[in-house]
Amino acid sequence: MITESIFGKTKDGVEVKEYTITNANGMSFSAITFGAVIRKVMLEDKKGVLRDVVLGYDSVENYEKDDTYLGAVVGRYANRIGNATFELNGEVYKLEGNDNGNHLHGGYNGYDKRVWDAETFEGELGNGVTFKLFSPDLDQKYPGNLEISVTYTLTDDNDLMIDYRAVSDKDTICNLTNHSYFNLGGHDSGSALNQYAMINADFVTEADAKSITTGKMIYVSGTPMDFTSEMLIGDHIDDDYYQLNYGLGYDHNWALNKKEEGEMILAATLENRKTGIKMEVYTDLPGVQFYSGNFLKGELPGKDGVRYLKRYGVCFETQYYPDSINKPEFPSPILKAGEEYKTTTIYKFV
Ligand code: GLA
Repeated sequence: MITESIFGKTKDGVEVKEYTITNANGMSFSAITFGAVIRKVMLEDKKGVLRDVVLGYDSVENYEKDDTYLGAVVGRYANRIGNATFELNGEVYKLEGNDNGNHLHGGYNGYDKRVWDAETFEGELGNGVTFKLFSPDLDQKYPGNLEISVTYTLTDDNDLMIDYRAVSDKDTICNLTNHSYFNLGGHDSGSALNQYAMINADFVTEADAKSITTGKMIYVSGTPMDFTSEMLIGDHIDDDYYQLNYGLGYDHNWALNKKEEGEMILAATLENRKTGIKMEVYTDLPGVQFYSGNFLKGELPGKDGVRYLKRYGVCFETQYYPDSINKPEFPSPILKAGEEYKTTTIYKFV
């Protein structure tokens, strides 16, 4: 089932719509045209109680004020670019240094702050909604007119699939992700540290004190970054380990174990044993930023007035590695003129 409603208006008076897609199992997600935000993901826990497992807000105003990217699509380049600078085809591009002089999630007017066009559909795999955004040449200072579409499809196997597509008329860089914060105990259940996570990666990209990748890979075995088997997120998050000290907890890019570039694999899992809700994350992208919500402060009231404090939700941001445009040893985020940026991430609830 697909329903459509008016969610509200931006401060400039632009209408924001919300779409709710429900599958045959009674699982649903809701997404809004502001930021292509996933605002709700509802499913039954093991006792049959309906839980909303993502953090979000009840008003457009709070999404406009938010600086934590709750549920949004971020871009043009998700995560960080060191010194907010990159070079492409001999040309130097200086971006907005919105994070300690580095560039984060597209800068001050990221895609998470735009009102996207939307169209719902009933498809073979499931029903869903496609969001579209046009990002003109030199928008956020990136080269190339970029036509973007992000499609959310909900299958009857409880897969929430995200298909990202983009085409530019000039060579550019592109790295789109979704910044949903999950708490499988429910968005209103407090800390997310009592959940088990697995990340299918033997290496994590080393970050410096400002979260810029150094180019070095850290073998996770024997460190608190080792999620190769399920581990309680809270178990080692406050260990005295230099990477955790820099990130104030987990906020790092794991280099996924892949046999070949573009292979779709199980990248991560998250499980709450109290509610019995488990999520699997699949992606064809090379990395995942596992971020433990270290900067949440509950400044704005969330859904039903709930305040989301530090570490009340965790993100699995599938992506090219941070600062990969400045690290030739990393998989390249360059999107050539006329070629299609095409990647898929699935959040599957089992
Ligand atoms: C990303 C970053 C974090 C933080 C959040 C937003 O996940 O890696 O450092 O900036 O976004 O609060």
